[in-house]
Amino acid sequence: MRKEVVLITGANGEIGHGLISHLGQRGDVQIVALDVSPLDESIRGYCHPFIQGDILDTMLLGRLVAEYEIRTIYHLASILSTKAEYNPETAHRVNVEGTLNLLRLAVEQAAWQGKTVKFLYPSSIAAYGIPTLELKNQVGKVKEEQYLEPFTMYGCNKLYCEHLGRYYTRHYRQLAADKPRNNIDFRCLRFPGLISAVTTPTGGTSDYGPEMVHYAARGEAYNCFVRKDTRLPFMMMPDAVRSLLELEAAPRDKLSKLVYNITSFSLTAEEFHKIVLEHFPDAKVSFQPHLARQGIVDSWPQDVDDSAARYDWNWKPEYDINRAFKEYLIPAIKEKYKE
Ligand code: SER
Repeated sequence: MRKEVVLITGANGEIGHGLISHLGQRGDVQIVALDVSPLDESIRGYCHPFIQGDILDTMLLGRLVAEYEIRTIYHLASILSTKAEYNPETAHRVNVEGTLNLLRLAVEQAAWQGKTVKFLYPSSIAAYGIPTLELKNQVGKVKEEQYLEPFTMYGCNKLYCEHLGRYYTRHYRQLAADKPRNNIDFRCLRFPGLISAVTTPTGGTSDYGPEMVHYAARGEAYNCFVRKDTRLPFMMMPDAVRSLLELEAAPRDKLSKLVYNITSFSLTAEEFHKIVLEHFPDAKVSFQPHLARQGIVDSWPQDVDDSAARYDWNWKPEYDINRAFKEYLIPAIKEKYKE
């Protein structure tokens, strides 16, 4: 008998950390975790097993199919937006071919099990590309269908993988005589910039937010790479983890979309700085915009319309701007760096 498990790729990334801690503490599922990097000790005990390996390694994925009955896949592995610009073709391989490999794995699992396999996929505000800053400031909240002309390789990859998820869910092998009845149930969230007290992001373009707080907590000076007036939507990691689990648990017939916007609050880099100063009065932050990274952030919406998520599966962030800093981020980050 194969064991029934959930598979989490990108386990050592920011969302991976949050999700594994949460599911591990809940203790009601067996987690098989995959990452190219070694897994942090703090979450290793929750994973049975942790496999250090690459999502491009199809032999490895084949062995997973043989060994486990995978009911749900959280495919979190990805190269983020800034890093992807330094080697767009490698990013394409990891972000697109890697996702294709996992979708294939899901389809094979569904065929073996005769059951639908759920596929949870984090997309991003990077899927949007608003042509000018003037327009960004004018349009405010963006709906799922608007401005889908991303400026970055990462954004293109996310948008295309949303399409792949829809294809595998609705149209895979549409011409085959033995078209499979049970295949995959793709569910996707477009996340805003995510902020965790436990980890720092690597290679993203919304990173100035979390970096400003982590540097301040460590007593280090920080050069913010965007202008003070730059506005983006953000969300705290506990809300991001909860949103993934709530979307996973939602009845399929309540879901009118495969891809949902979600957000918690929007603020400018200057507002971010002010909040940081309230909690760390000695924080040293200067603003030295990096023109190219600024251009990327300027193409991302300052806010998103998440009314479909709110209506279909009762999405609601727990951490608004006040609770986010006072009740989650600042206490947890002070604890992290207290030695
Ligand atoms: N936060 C991510 C990044 O900056 C976007 O999903 O790349």
